[in-house]
Amino acid sequence: MGGAERGILVSGNWKMNENHFEALKLIQELAALLRSGGVPEGREASVHPPFTSIRTVQTAVETDHVPLSLGAQDCHHADRGAFTGEVSAEMLAKLNVVYVIAGHSERRTYCGETDEQVRAKVDAIYRNGMRPIVCVGEHLAERQAGEAVAKVRSQVAAVFSGRSAEQVAAAVVAYEPVWAIGTGESATPEDAETMCAEIRAELVAQAGAQAGSARVQYGGSVGPDSAGELLAQENVDGLLVGGASLDAGKFVAILHAGA
Ligand code: PGA
Repeated sequence: MGGAERGILVSGNWKMNENHFEALKLIQELAALLRSGGVPEGREASVHPPFTSIRTVQTAVETDHVPLSLGAQDCHHADRGAFTGEVSAEMLAKLNVVYVIAGHSERRTYCGETDEQVRAKVDAIYRNGMRPIVCVGEHLAERQAGEAVAKVRSQVAAVFSGRSAEQVAAAVVAYEPVWAIGTGESATPEDAETMCAEIRAELVAQAGAQAGSARVQYGGSVGPDSAGELLAQENVDGLLVGGASLDAGKFVAILHAGA
């Protein structure tokens, strides 16, 4: 099974959903389900609310000792300064955020984020003692042209070249084919396995064998029905879940899938 020695991380990316009242309701539902069902051995779950709901979720998680790691969806590359409307990694670290997503395809597409900007954000995440979840993935046309592996490996290299094995090993990389996000069309477990193995190979090529212990997630239309088979793949160490993470029952079912 994927993550047998590396551990499995199931992350809920809430995207631009859940104002702080709704976030409180969702986190209480998750807390109740996790209290009764627990978190399977060797697995970990993180939730990534929008910035305005992080403090609410932090308070609920810490007060009730909910077994969830706190995450964010993005950050700025600078720690502070004249960047109106931005939120820094330093600010997130102060809220006990553990994982920060960087380079989600929606940000690359709608906000024009480049590999260089994603790399600078990852620098900021490490500098502030947190772990990045770096999203990579090809567009449909790239897959059809047979360019998926080259595209994804170049995205990985752009962010991780020149880093120590220790730093790379602390990272999470999420393989999220753009055509599978929010479309209901998940990659097959075999395709996910192939691409996650390529990503691991690129991490090792950049930083040496120890870097291969980084966790590699799959993301894109994951639901309770597809999660078990995906997590059974050797190189799939977790899942990055969008839509289904807004439903507490589905998210917890995904966390337990195949365990
Ligand atoms: P989805 O989103 O599960 O709704 O497809 C995944 C993601 O964008 O991380």
